[in-house]
Amino acid sequence: MSRRGLLAGGAVAGLGAVAAAVALSGEDTPVPVAATGPLDTGTATVAFHGTRQAGVAQDPPAHAAFVAFTLAAGSDKRTLSRMMRLLSDDAARLTRGVPALGDTDATLAVLPARLTVTFGFGPGLYRVAGVPSPVADLPKFSIDRLERRWSGGDLLLQICADDPLTVAHTQRMLIKDARPFAAVRWVQQGFRRSPGVQAPEHTQRNVLGQLDGTANPRGTEIDPAVWNTDGSTQLVIRRMRAEIEKWDLLAVADKENATGRRLESGAPLSGTNERDEPDFGALDDTGLPKMPDFSHVTRARVTDPGLKILRRPYNYDGVPNALGHPDAGLIFAAYQRDIARQFVPIQQRLADKDLLNEWITPIGSAVFAIPPGCAEGGWIGEQVLA
Ligand code: HEM
Repeated sequence: MSRRGLLAGGAVAGLGAVAAAVALSGEDTPVPVAATGPLDTGTATVAFHGTRQAGVAQDPPAHAAFVAFTLAAGSDKRTLSRMMRLLSDDAARLTRGVPALGDTDATLAVLPARLTVTFGFGPGLYRVAGVPSPVADLPKFSIDRLERRWSGGDLLLQICADDPLTVAHTQRMLIKDARPFAAVRWVQQGFRRSPGVQAPEHTQRNVLGQLDGTANPRGTEIDPAVWNTDGSTQLVIRRMRAEIEKWDLLAVADKENATGRRLESGAPLSGTNERDEPDFGALDDTGLPKMPDFSHVTRARVTDPGLKILRRPYNYDGVPNALGHPDAGLIFAAYQRDIARQFVPIQQRLADKDLLNEWITPIGSAVFAIPPGCAEGGWIGEQVLA
C-alpha cells in the first residue's frame, strides 16, 4: 500500500497502528525493533579516568551537547590550568553520579546515564598557552556556507548521556564553573535513538532516513584510525544542514544513487546486505557502474585503516521556519589521529564532487585537539598546561 493510497483516505480504517506503520514503510517486513530485557540506563556509568578520554570510542549515547567557548581576554597558561583542574574535577564527579563541588542542584546529578564529558582544545587555546597547536583551522571548501554562530572555539566540551536532563544539568554546571575563564561561543544539541528503542547492533538512521555508520571503524579498527600513542586524538565538528524539503521530493532510487547504498537495507548498490563490501568495478545491465562515480560512498571511501575516520554524528532538529520547513541536519562529529591527513582529503573529495551536496550544506565548522585522558587526581590538559 503506497503512502499516496493511505493519504487518499479510507485505506487504513480498521488497521492497527502496527499494521499502518508497516504499510507506511512500503515493505513487507517491519523494521527490526526493540532491545529486549530490562534497562537500567539511569545509573550506568562510563569511567572518566584513563589514558584516553571517554566519549570517543564508546557507542554514542542518545543525547549530546557540544559547547564551544572563547577564552577570556588576558588568559594565560596559569588561568587555563586553573580552569581545567576545576572542570576536570566537575566531570570526574558528575560522570560517577556525584554532584560537582558547589553543585546548585545536587538532585540532578545522581543519574549519570552513561554521561561522558570530553574536552577539546582549539588552535586559539594553544596560542594563549604559547604552545604549538596539533590542530589547524580547516581549509575553505567550495561547498561551505559557514556561519560564525556555529564555528570555531578555543575550548570544547562534548557532553553525552542517555538522558537529556543529565546533559542539561552537566552543561549548566560546567558553563557556570567555566564562566570566570571563558564565554560560551556556541552550543549545538543533538540526539540519536533512545536506549532500548532498537537493538544496539543495528545501525541507526539519521534524520534523512539513511542508515548512518555502516562503514565506520569498529572494535580493533578504531585504534589505528583514532588514537595517537600518547592517548590523544583530534575532532572535527561540521554542522551539516539537510535540505530535507528537497530531499523529500526525490524518488527512493535517486536517494540511493546519491548515497550509493539502498535506503531500506543500507546495502551498497553493488551488493545485497548492509555489510557487503561495495564493488566499485561492478557494472549494471547498461554498462554503467553499479556504485555511481559521484555517490557519497564512492567519493568518501578510504581503504587504508590508518586513514579512516570515526564518525560520531548526532541529529539536530530545530524550530521550523515560517513556511513549516524543518531546520534539521547532522552535527557531524568525526574523530581521527590527524585531521590534516584523514579528514581533509575526504572532505576535499566530497566538496569537489558528491551527489549528496545537493541536499547537505556545511554551515558550521570547528577543529579541536582531544588531549589524553588523566589518572585519578590528575586533570585534562596537564601535559600541555602544567
Ligand atoms: C549531512 C551530512 C552527511 C550525511 C547525511 C551522510 C550520510 C552518509 C551515509 C548514509 C553513509 C553510508 C553509510 C555509512 O557507512 O555510514 C555515509 C558514509 C560515509 N560518510 Fe557521510 N554523510 C554526511 C557527511 C559526511 C562528511 C562531512 C564526511 C567527511 C568529510 C563524511 C564521510 C563519510 C565516510 C568516510 C563514509 C564511509 C564511506 C565508506 O568507506 O563506505 N560524510 N555518509
